Amino acid sequence: MAGALAAAVSDLYRTFAEREAHGRSELYEALARGVAADPAMLAFLVDLPPPKRQPNLLFAAVQLLAGAPRDWPHFQALVRERGDEVRSTMLARRTQTNEPARCATLLPVLSRLPQPLALLEIGAAAGLCLLPDRYGYEFDGASLPPTVTGRVPPPTFRCRTSGAGPRAGSLRVAWRAGLDLEPIAVGDDAQVAWLEALVWPDEGERLARLRAAVRVAREDPPPVVRGDLRVDVAALAAQAPASATLVIFHTAVLAYVGDAGERAEFAGSVRRLGAVWISNEAPSVFPELAARARGRRPPGWFLLSVDGEPVAWTDPHGAALEWIESRR
Ligand SMILES: C[S@@+](CC[C@H](N)C(=O)[O-])C[C@H]1O[C@@H](n2cnc3c(N)ncnc32)[C@H](O)[C@@H]1O
Repeated sequence: MAGALAAAVSDLYRTFAEREAHGRSELYEALARGVAADPAMLAFLVDLPPPKRQPNLLFAAVQLLAGAPRDWPHFQALVRERGDEVRSTMLARRTQTNEPARCATLLPVLSRLPQPLALLEIGAAAGLCLLPDRYGYEFDGASLPPTVTGRVPPPTFRCRTSGAGPRAGSLRVAWRAGLDLEPIAVGDDAQVAWLEALVWPDEGERLARLRAAVRVAREDPPPVVRGDLRVDVAALAAQAPASATLVIFHTAVLAYVGDAGERAEFAGSVRRLGAVWISNEAPSVFPELAARARGRRPPGWFLLSVDGEPVAWTDPHGAALEWIESRR
């Protein structure tokens, strides 16, 4: 039994090395291949509950405790020497990567809705995607300043687009709130350190973007309420002003709800609230939506859909968007 579990975890890390890290991070590819072939590391992971065995959680825990490892032998030594701390960090935390640049792929659909908006983000982490009006953008080289400017310089998110779709414009946000199992307080340095540890070490630009977005958010933090998307959406939505267009959106969240029936129930509950529903998720999350999306399907990208209609493929970090030709 333990042998079968170790083999499954080894497969998980090998697949991560091949599909997620290859071509993106030499370090994480080497670490994942190292873990996949190391019986001691596999035994360490098998001892954890299944959701806690993920590569991103292990690598972020080590980065939080000791900074970026130099290479596989250094990583292996760190886990051997500080295994108890790595384990307790993995048990206490969850993968909560908050990628504010995803706002670039949401903005074109948000800005064409009747304004003002009431933005309710599900799985908001620190709420950095709740501030699309407070960042700058560059779409295909054309700049778009923030709708609302504060005292600190906003980050600029660059996004390449292709195909025919709505142009991004300004937004009026009347109300905003997030829901998360484990909200992250942007004002708390220790919690922000966890967000930073989740950024892969070779992705310095992402770290700079994250830090700039955290500075913007700290000026006027978006409220993120503790709750579960399976039960708590309606109560939070009821607080939105009726005079604004209620938008319920989520990016990179629903994959954490493992049961397809629960995901369908969530989607149904959002539709019953009469909100505009924006989903930006891996295509496997709602396969029936992905099956209706025409054209090229860039590997590893998310599917952006509005009210159950696929509208675009999006780079998971917001760097690009390909509009999907409409069937109508
Ligand atoms: C990968 S993060 C994405 C954060 C943000 N949406 C973004 O795109 O940057 C996923 C978030 O979903 C939250 N989450 C996972 N399952 C949830 C649930 N059942 N209810 C509420 N939040 C959940 C996690 O706590 C985490 O903060």
